[in-house]
Formats: sequence, C-alpha cells, structure tokens
Amino acid sequence: MNKILLLYYSQSGQLTEIVRNFAKPFENSDNYSVTYANIEPVKEYEFPWSGYRFFDAFPESVERIPCEIKPLDLGDENYDLIVFAYSVWYMSPCIPCNSFLLSDQAKRIFKNKPVITLLGIRNMWVVAQEYVKEKIVENGGNLVGNIVLRDRAENLTGIITISYFMFSGKKGRFAWFFPKAGISQKDIEGVTRFGELAKSSFENNNLNKLQTELVSEKAVKINPYLVSTERTAYKRVFLKWSAFMLKKGGPGNPERKGRVRAFAFYFPFAILLIAPIKYIFFLIFAPLRLRIIKKEIKYYSGTDFKSNI
Ligand SMILES: Cc1cc2nc3c(=O)[nH]c(=O)nc-3n(C[C@H](O)[C@H](O)[C@H](O)COP(=O)(O)O)c2cc1C
Repeated sequence: MNKILLLYYSQSGQLTEIVRNFAKPFENSDNYSVTYANIEPVKEYEFPWSGYRFFDAFPESVERIPCEIKPLDLGDENYDLIVFAYSVWYMSPCIPCNSFLLSDQAKRIFKNKPVITLLGIRNMWVVAQEYVKEKIVENGGNLVGNIVLRDRAENLTGIITISYFMFSGKKGRFAWFFPKAGISQKDIEGVTRFGELAKSSFENNNLNKLQTELVSEKAVKINPYLVSTERTAYKRVFLKWSAFMLKKGGPGNPERKGRVRAFAFYFPFAILLIAPIKYIFFLIFAPLRLRIIKKEIKYYSGTDFKSNI
C-alpha cells in the first residue's frame, strides 16, 4: 500500500477542492492510502478579510515570518509521495503554509521524499515558488512536479474580482461586465488529469519526467510580463514597505496602524498606475530580450528541476 500525503491550507475552500480533485485517481485505487492534512494556524486568519487585516498580513507574508500552527497528527510520518498545496499571499507562500515549511515536522516528513507543489492562486507565483523550492531542498525533499492553477482574468480585471472574493467571501459575478472571481470551475475539475499523470509517473518509477509531462499538458503556464513585474515589485517595493512596517511591531500592533494604512493607499495606486506603465516598457523592450524571455519561460516551467535548484 502506497501512502500519499496532501498538505494544504485554504480559506475559501477553493484550494481544498483543487486538492480533492487532484487526489481522485489515488482515492479510486485500492493501492493507495490517501491522507489529507489541513494546516491550521493557532490564531486563524479570518475569512472574508477586512481591509485592515488584509494589509496587516503584508509584512509577515513578505518577510516570511511564521505564525504558530497546530502540529499535524500524521502517524509514523512516513509517506511515499507528498503534495504540498499552497496559495500565495503577497508573492510568498501564505503564512500558514510557510509556517509549516519552516517547522521541524516538515524536515521529518520531506526528508528524501518526492514532493509535488500544487498552487491555487490569482496570477503571481514565481517568486513564492522559488522560495518554496529552496525550503523543500533545505528540508531534504525532492521536488518532482509543479502544478499552478490561476485566475484566467486579465491582470487588472483579476485584481478587482479577487478583491471582491477576498472581502466578500463570494466567488460569483458582482457586476455583469466582470467575470466570476477566482479559478474557474473547469480548471478546478480539470486538475484530476494532473493527478492521473502523477499517479502513473509514480507507478512507473518515472517521477523525474513528470514535470515535462505536466508542462506539455499545460499544468504550468508562464507569462513573462507577470514574471518580470512580480520580481521587480517584490525586490524593489514589497521588501522596502515590509521593513518599514515591521519597525512598528508585529501583527495587529496598533503602533503600525499608520504605516499599514499608508500601504493600503499606496497599493492600489501602484497596481493601477505603475503596472500598465511597466507593461508598455515590457512590450517595447521584449524584442530585444527574446532570448532571456525564452530562457525564463523554460526555467520557471521547471522542466529541469535539478538545474533550477
Ligand atoms: C493576503 C492575500 C494576498 C494575496 N496575494 C497574492 C499574490 O501575491 N499573488 C497571487 O497570485 N494571489 C494572491 N492572493 C490570492 C491567493 O493566492 C488565493 O488565490 C486566494 O487567497 C484563494 O485561496 P484559498 O483557497 O485559501 O481561499 C492573495 C490572497 C490574500 C488573502
């Protein structure tokens, strides 16, 4: 009997559904025992978010500062395949998932084990995934696959629809001209076929080829403009703002209210004004950067994890 472990944290249930659909082929086989492990913070992040709490989570997300999580009861902690499913908060793995990655339990569970990352996000994830890759290696794990489900909405539209989703808790359409928020139901259901690929790779002892198959099935798509935008924003903007906010204390500290509020005003301005300008520059210089862009697409698709790490 092969043991598969699916670790995840989901606020709205979107990622939970993705995880369950991915696991279906394993569930439907008598050769597997499937364990779902829901990472739980001791102090829950309330959902839907209030505006203030949403921005107050920024510094700890960006600086990857863990919160306290409940230890997971995982028996002998010995699994044959691990799926680490996470969402992204401010270009970082969400705080509960990061807290697990940094735990001693993660070191025990990941050691010498094949790991598949499964993301349910809006559209910016490569900076977070680079960090997660590093942590999996530090924990002794072997990353063999990466699957990314994202909102299909265009970037600025997606910011509006995800805000509605995060602040109301609803994924539906809130005005006729906006698409539904979040990841489409078709994509959420379609993830089962990636589960099938993972299962047959595992059974054929072929996990080192899994990512190439996943990429050819479009399990990961790279948008070079978004990659360039998120890398610049994380380094040049996010890290500066997070350091500035942290000088006034930790989560919920009333001392940092002013700085959290200032960031809340700055953030939409930066997205709505700076992002389109960056897009125009990206388009102008893209013909000169074609070789680099091609290399980046290959690298972030992750068809060659060993050299990536
Ligand atoms: C505080 C916060 C920050 C987020 N930042 C990002 C981000 O940087 N990139 C991204 O693609 N999605 C971002 N999202 C969206 C999440 O990755 C995810 O799609 C959403 O929270 C739904 O996940 P759930 O399954 O936990 O409900 C953010 C969400 C939250 C709550």
